[in-house]
Amino acid sequence: MSHSPSSSCAAPLRVGIVGLGRLGRRHAEALAFATRHVQLVAACSPVESEREFARGELGVPRIHADYEALLQDPEVDAVVLVTPTSLHADQTIAALRAGKHVFVEKPLALNVEDCERVLAVAAEHPDRVAMVGFVRRFDPSYQSAQASVAAGEIGRPFLVRSQTCDRNDPDGFFVRFAPTSGGIFMDCSVHDIDLARWLLGRPKALRAFASGTIALHPGLAECGDVDNGLAIVEFEGGARAVFYASRTMAHGHETSTEVIGTEGKLLVGEHAARDRVVRSDARGVGHAVLADFHERFEAAFSREMIAFVAACRGEQTLDLTLSDAVEATRIGVAITRSLISGQVAPV
Ligand code: NAI
Repeated sequence: MSHSPSSSCAAPLRVGIVGLGRLGRRHAEALAFATRHVQLVAACSPVESEREFARGELGVPRIHADYEALLQDPEVDAVVLVTPTSLHADQTIAALRAGKHVFVEKPLALNVEDCERVLAVAAEHPDRVAMVGFVRRFDPSYQSAQASVAAGEIGRPFLVRSQTCDRNDPDGFFVRFAPTSGGIFMDCSVHDIDLARWLLGRPKALRAFASGTIALHPGLAECGDVDNGLAIVEFEGGARAVFYASRTMAHGHETSTEVIGTEGKLLVGEHAARDRVVRSDARGVGHAVLADFHERFEAAFSREMIAFVAACRGEQTLDLTLSDAVEATRIGVAITRSLISGQVAPV
């Protein structure tokens, strides 16, 4: 992803989307109807109803059941991978080898070795963009906070407290999803891990400790996962991060991050307010809550895709690098190891 775009070109970027599940559909709709300088020319899914969605609802002309077939298509310049995390590394490598730019959802892989395989192949294709979807880096509030920190406005940042908390889903989508997601820290906290590194100036992580509990979803025990997890990470130079991830909030989605420095602190996303309407009545004062991550980060998803397209067209470079994604996985793996062992884990 750290790349040098070789040339600028006026033609729209021709994209093939791979995976049309919970998030893939959203990316596909944005690419088909709401992103400039893009044509959604192909879609791939092993599921017939998803292929039908792409054909019928989005009008995508070339539909594939098989990823290899999409990669052979010379009319596809870039792929957007929104597939199970366990497939990300191999699918990214195959795309780069086929000469495509790649956007791959987070995390890049579930272990550091797979991440490093991707990094090695990306280094062989420096004219191809490879970007991992750490969407919060494209959220206006997080960007503003990071710019303030980088400008020294809170002095030296030394502590990040960050949480990703989802509303409880009684259907247990994520219980079925858990075996391929890497667990709550790799799936949810990986965003907070990336934010912590970004806000703290990319310090080296030294060790991690994690604990967790199952509040509502006993099915998670089968794969060693929890529905509420806590972690502490120590970084070289004294900086620290504390993460909380939950699948069981009763009210709605609540992502927030606090960065504390020697001369001040910043708080992004204090509560789960859906909008700016505050209702007051006999029951009290309150506001509607955000339903899920997509509602919270809709603008960021759009800006993220605009950045990917601009990078592929040689119009901008990306601050977010593949190495950042490797480090996020490295820390996530150590946290997960600590959760399972109950011991402090070296990163
Ligand atoms: P999902 O299970 O709803 O969708 C997965 C999709 O991949 C399905 O369309 C499935 O048919 C397709 N698929 C499975 N095997 C395939 C193959 N061999 N070739 C092509 N397609 C294949 O999962 P969801 O929730 O959409 O997550 C997908 C990815 O997006 C995950 O890596 C997840 O971590 C990431 N994600 C990122 C979020 C963010 O905030 N940036 C939020 C939600 C998910």
